[in-house]
Amino acid sequence: MTDLGPVAWPPAPIRTERLVLREPEARDRAAFIELLASPEVHAYLGGSRPRDELEREVPEVPERWPGSFVVDLGGAMIGQILLRRATGHRRPAAVGKVDLGYLFLPRAWGFGYAAEACAAALDWFDGVLPGEPVVLATQTANVGSMRLAAKLGFTELERFRAWDAEQWLGMRSPVTLSD
Ligand SMILES: CC(C)(COP(=O)(O)OP(=O)(O)OC[C@H]1O[C@@H](n2cnc3c(N)ncnc32)[C@H](O)[C@@H]1OP(=O)(O)O)[C@@H](O)C(=O)NCCC(=O)NCCS
Repeated sequence: MTDLGPVAWPPAPIRTERLVLREPEARDRAAFIELLASPEVHAYLGGSRPRDELEREVPEVPERWPGSFVVDLGGAMIGQILLRRATGHRRPAAVGKVDLGYLFLPRAWGFGYAAEACAAALDWFDGVLPGEPVVLATQTANVGSMRLAAKLGFTELERFRAWDAEQWLGMRSPVTLSD
């Protein structure tokens, strides 16, 4: 599910104007638990998990796999970006393609951090796997996520119904030099 193929991982930390994208560390564990336990973060993602369960089950260094970036603001984690190959995707158009996901702590919403971090992750992706498209699935009711997808250059492939809600599948075609 998470295979990005022959990509060197982890890359050197990626710096943007305000943020750093880096591999997860043990010091991020509390922020990961906060992210996974937050009902607000999971409002359109099928529900959060109980904090006590997370405290027991989240490993010492959470989510360390190729394509999993911690977004760091001033030394503290504010979110996670996920780039995974969607082998088990429900939609034929997305099968085998790399899928972008993003989860930010509510206190970090509304500052453009998600857009800044996702753009940097996609730039990195274009560098390591040139020419590969990226897909993104989100509920249409998730207005912030829909706006972010549009800002990042994703365009609609299809809408469909799943998990009792309307879902949106978008795709971003790689930028080529002639564009
Ligand atoms: C989806 C999610 C990442 C969006 O976060 P966000 O902070 O709203 O996204 P952005 O980074 O695009 O920032 C949004 C706002 O910051 C504002 N902003 C403030 N300061 C800014 C700055 N310096 N630069 C850019 N934008 C700025 C912008 O006006 C923008 O608002 P707009 O979209 O209305 O124009 C967040 O809501 C989230 O984590 N949700 C839970 C997880 C989830 O549902 N994920 C989707 C499924 S993969």
